[in-house]
Formats: sequence, C-alpha cells, structure tokens
Amino acid sequence: MKFSLLLPLSLAFIVVCSSSSVWPSASSHVNHEEFLPCLLHHSPDSKSITKLVYTPINTSYSPVLNFSIRNLRFSTPNTPKPLLIITPSNISHVQAAVICSKSHGIQIRIRSGGHDFEGLSYVAYHPFVVVDLINLSSVTIEVEQSTAWVQSGATLGELYYRIAEKSRTLAFPAGNCPTVGVGGHFSGGGFGTLLRKYGLAADNVIDAYIVDANGEFHDRKSMGEDLFWAIRGGGGGSFGIVVAWKVKLVPVPATVTICTISRTLEEEAIKLIDQWQYVANKLDEDLFLGINLLGGKIVAQGDKINPIALFFSLFLGKADELMAILNKTFPQLGLTKEECKETSWIESVVYTGNGLQIEDQPLEVLLNRTPLANGNIKMKSDYVKEPISKATIKEVWQRLKSQDIEGANLVFIPYGGRMSQISESEIPFSHRAGNLYKIGYLTGWFEPGLNAEKTHLNWIRDIYSYMTPFVTKSPRAAYVNYRDLDIGSNSKYGKTSYKRAHVWGSKYFGSNFDRLVYVKNEVDPYNFFRHEQSIPVLLKRRI
Ligand SMILES: Cc1cc2nc3c(=O)[nH]c(=O)nc-3n(C[C@H](O)[C@H](O)[C@H](O)COP(=O)(O)OP(=O)(O)OC[C@H]3O[C@@H](n4cnc5c(N)ncnc54)[C@H](O)[C@@H]3O)c2cc1C
Ligand SMILES: *[C@@H]1O[C@H](CO)[C@@H](O)[C@H](O)[C@H]1NC(C)=O
Ligand SMILES: *[C@@H]1O[C@H](CO)[C@@H](O)[C@H](O)[C@H]1NC(C)=O
Ligand SMILES: *[C@@H]1O[C@H](CO)[C@@H](O)[C@H](O)[C@H]1NC(C)=O
Ligand SMILES: *[C@@H]1O[C@H](CO)[C@@H](O)[C@H](O)[C@H]1NC(C)=O
Ligand SMILES: *[C@@H]1O[C@H](CO)[C@@H](O)[C@H](O)[C@H]1NC(C)=O
Repeated sequence: MKFSLLLPLSLAFIVVCSSSSVWPSASSHVNHEEFLPCLLHHSPDSKSITKLVYTPINTSYSPVLNFSIRNLRFSTPNTPKPLLIITPSNISHVQAAVICSKSHGIQIRIRSGGHDFEGLSYVAYHPFVVVDLINLSSVTIEVEQSTAWVQSGATLGELYYRIAEKSRTLAFPAGNCPTVGVGGHFSGGGFGTLLRKYGLAADNVIDAYIVDANGEFHDRKSMGEDLFWAIRGGGGGSFGIVVAWKVKLVPVPATVTICTISRTLEEEAIKLIDQWQYVANKLDEDLFLGINLLGGKIVAQGDKINPIALFFSLFLGKADELMAILNKTFPQLGLTKEECKETSWIESVVYTGNGLQIEDQPLEVLLNRTPLANGNIKMKSDYVKEPISKATIKEVWQRLKSQDIEGANLVFIPYGGRMSQISESEIPFSHRAGNLYKIGYLTGWFEPGLNAEKTHLNWIRDIYSYMTPFVTKSPRAAYVNYRDLDIGSNSKYGKTSYKRAHVWGSKYFGSNFDRLVYVKNEVDPYNFFRHEQSIPVLLKRRI
C-alpha cells in the first residue's frame, strides 16, 4: 500500500516535529508554601505525597507538565502554567488535592491523557493546580465476568493491551488512538470502530469511583444514579474526579478483517463519498466503514496527489464474508480482498492505532504514552442527518486542496446499528437515531507562531461555516470530546449564565443539558469543578 497514513484523528500529517521555543519562567503568585502543608495534613501517608508534588522549582516540573500535552498551541511561553502539579498514586491524594485546593481558593484542572483539544486539562486563566492521574493507571481484567476495572490515568492502549493478555476474543468499544486517556475519553462518550456494534465507551460503563467537590469518595451506589448518569458522557471536569471505571467487555471473533482503500481521482472519489452516505449507516452492524479525507500541503508534497479519500473498515468476521456483504450493498466501491487483511482484533488496533500501518509491531507499542508526532491542532465536529449533495462534496474536496495549510483531515464516522438503538437520554451523549454520520474536522501544523495559527484556524472555521446549511441545525450538534471553544464558552474568569452556557451545552448534549445542570447543582453547588465548558451552576433558577 502506497499511503501509510491512516485513521481517524491520529495526526494525519505525521512528519518529524522540531520545536525550539523556550520554556517560560515559572508562574507568578505561587502560594504553595501554605498549600503543601495542607496536602501533608490531609494525606494519611504524608511522606509519600511530597514525592508526588511538583512546583516550578522542581527540575521535573516542566517535563512532567509537558509529558501529556497533546496540543502544542497550549505549550507556549505565554500559556498560563499551574502553581503545582500533583500526581496522586492513591485515592487519598486525590481527596487531599480537592480539599486543599478548595480551602485555598485555587482551581483544579484534572488531567488523564491530556488530549483535550482546547488544553482544558492543563491550562486555566486563574491560579490553578493540575491533578495529573498518570500514576493511577492500573487495569484489572475479570475474564469470567467479561468486566474490567480501569483507572482514569490509563490510556486506551494500556486497557486494550491488558485485555489481550487475558483474551483475544474480548474487546472494548473505545477510540483507536492508543495514547488517549481513559479519564477524559469515557467522560465525553468515547467512540471507535466498534460503535455500530456496541455503542460508545460510556455506554458500557457499569460502575465508577469518584472524588466529589467535598473530597468525598463514592462508588455508583453512594453517588446515586443522577451523578452516575452525568459522568457517562457529560464531559470531563464538571462533576468530580473520576478515579476508576468498571466496564463491560464485549465479545469479538478470533478473526476480524480490516481494509483500507484509497481513492484519489476526483470524479470517482466524489461519487463514492456520495454513495457511501446512503449505505454506511445501514450496513450490517458487524461492519464499520468510515472515510478519512486527507488534504493540505503535506499530502500534496509527499505524493503529488491531493486530496486522498481513504475508506477504512473493520469487519467482525472473515474477508470472504465481508466481500459478499459489500458485493451486495456497495459494489461501486470495488473493494478487493487484496485491500484487506485478516487479523485478530488486538492486532488490528496495533496496525491502525498509531496512524501508520506497519506490519508486525509488538503489542507493547500500545503501552507507549508518547504519540509519534505532537503538533498544533484544532478540531471541530458536525452531525449529518440528510445526505449532502455532490456539489457540496466537490467544494469540500476543493478546500482540501489548499496549499496554505499543512495538514487537513475530515473524518466521516457512520452511525446506525447500536447507536440508533440507544435512547437519546440513556446517557448525556444525545446523538443517536436519525444521524447518518458524524464529521470530524481537524487541521494540524508544526510551524510555530501566530501567523501559522491564524491561517489554520481560518481554514477550519471557514469550511465549518461553509457546511452550516448541510448539517444539523437548532442546535448545530457537536461532540464534546472534540472540544471546540468556538461554539461558545463560559466566561474565562467569572460566573456564567444558564443562557450563555446553553449555547454550547445544547450542541453537545441536546435536551440532556438541563439534567446535567440539575445534577451539577446537586453535587457541586459552589462550582468548584469548572472550566470554559463545564456545566454551570444556576444562581437562582431551578429546573
Ligand atoms: C490524537 C487524538 C485522537 C483522538 N481519537 C479519538 C477517537 O478515536 N474517539 C473519540 O471519541 N475521541 C477521540 N479523541 C478525543 C478524545 O476522546 C478527547 O480529547 C478526550 O477527552 C481525551 O481524554 P484524555 O484523558 O486524553 O484528555 P484530558 O485532556 O486529560 O481530559 C479531557 C477533559 O476531561 C477532563 N478529565 C480528564 N480526566 C478526568 C477524570 N478522571 N475525571 C473527570 N474529568 C476528567 C479534563 O479536565 C478535560 O476537561 C482524540 C483526541 C486526540 C487528540
Ligand atoms: C520538589 O522539591 C521539593 C523541595 O526541594 C521536594 O521536597 C520534593 O520532593 C520535590 N518533588 C519531587 C517530585 O521530586
Ligand atoms: C516543554 O515544551 C515546550 C514547548 O514544546 C518546550 O519548549 C520545552 O523545551 C519543553 N520542556 C521540557 C523540559 O521538555
Ligand atoms: C492508599 O492509602 C490508604 C490509606 O492510607 C492505604 O490504606 C492504602 O493501602 C493505600 N493504597 C495504596 C495502593 O497505596
Ligand atoms: C509515579 O510513581 C512512581 C512510583 O511511586 C514514581 O517513581 C514516579 O515518579 C511517579 N510519576 C510521576 C510522573 O509522578
Ligand atoms: C460479486 O457478485 C458478482 C455477481 O453476483 C459475482 O460475479 C462476483 O464474483 C462477486 N464478487 C465477489 C468479490 O464476491
């Protein structure tokens, strides 16, 4: 296969990254002189907690901060930095962090894998500390029950690896990028190529451990069903620090089939994308067939072909069976067996997960927390309920030819199957029946500086604006895990009105937003857990 770039949302523009800016001096008004004793006071094992606290004077402060930054736009000298970073290794440390932050009027940012597209897990415009869950990352698999307990600081790759150690016919329906953190991913829904068969990661959560705004520890039973509902898709950082999740594992056959089909000829690609819209959401739910459109300068330079439409699929069965299905349902695609590969589910994750399709990588690559490339990125999302016209697809294709931007990536994720069977209010994630597919828009670049940023932001905002008439309306729906502050935000500094938050909240959660606000008022009435798109507290109004 000529084009080795692949997969939704791994950076589609993998080239060598070189960055040479200077790390900023430490942040101002550091009052950890009082904060540290508080942590010590509230930790039963106070000796161990000092080894887990990084202030700007510790040489490890910036390596630890940097380690899980997955968007270099938020790693500049001007980016606000935390007063300190705590890397709890025990739930009691998490509790101490909450109690002391609260008593000192300091905000908390919770970080698991650090993939938040707007950097909300490690940037705030307020004195803040980062609670980095990287050291709470254990995974316990119970094969007999087909369940697992996974701590929030684990990555998806670690979860998949631990499942594969115990069984090759169990899986979990979450994202394909192995470096994504469990904590943020499950909090916002979390999808991968198993979504048409088994729904989202959050649909498969059956219990959880959380530390609330009072520093109290709860499991599902003691937190109550309202809070347990809210944390499964209501977005991270609003309700508490979820330290672990119990999930249902799902069965997969010993052999699955993955295929990658690249189509570059304009006429052909546009015709196929058009036809795909009528087929993909109705296919057998054992079959996922998505599209990844790659454009921008990098694709053009590398191969002198721009853009590329990659159809990528996962089928829970053998290649012959897949051929028969596609021959009946989508013969125009002209898929051949040679474009496919029979493998195990876990091998399919390794093969496609890091964006490169490399044969024979050891499963251990799933344990690597560092992605192949770290660049500047901006993400946006849409949902499509009516097929868009060929003329519109053609215009999208034209825009992907832009030579002003480094990397552009539009990914089309088919819905239907299990996604249509789950009710809109089952969990806060409301985008269910009636959606043909989701569009993820991503642009990525390595060139530092505000000019490059402006060019790329303009490009993605422009195509998003162009798409307005063709996607869902009132509200224009969006996916909370593709965090996008362009669609509205709370005030960076102060309190926010319900009306202001409803603008972005109804896009992410539809009519579930009101229940999220209700739960927030019940469990965190003083709005301790907050960020630019956290669920707001109501001042007077009751729902
Ligand atoms: C390269 C890349 C690939 C991606 N691929 C996919 C994909 O295939 N499918 C998909 O659905 N999404 C995907 N995403 C989006 C991803 O699911 C979200 O960015 C997710 O929120 C990341 O979780 P995290 O723990 O890594 O991020 P973080 O930045 O650590 O957290 C994200 C948000 O959740 C909060 N949070 C984190 N941990 C906790 C916790 N334990 N308790 C409470 N709140 C918490 C944070 O404060 C922040 O607001 C991708 C993102 C990137 C950058
Ligand atoms: C940071 O420095 C302080 C003071 O020297 C020390 O007590 C603490 O253990 C250091 N933290 C880490 C993680 O090494
Ligand atoms: C942290 O990241 C910034 C920006 O990429 C970089 O300039 C700095 O050198 C990094 N610091 C460390 C200690 O790695
Ligand atoms: C966490 O702290 C509690 C209370 O001090 C202690 O009983 C427990 O053993 C600790 N757990 C771990 C994993 O260190
Ligand atoms: C995680 O815990 C281990 C063991 O306690 C410690 O050596 C390591 O430094 C911790 N990592 C971070 C990032 O704090
Ligand atoms: C597809 O169907 C046609 C006609 O039924 C048949 O001739 C052809 O061999 C089939 N191709 C595959 C790959 O199954």
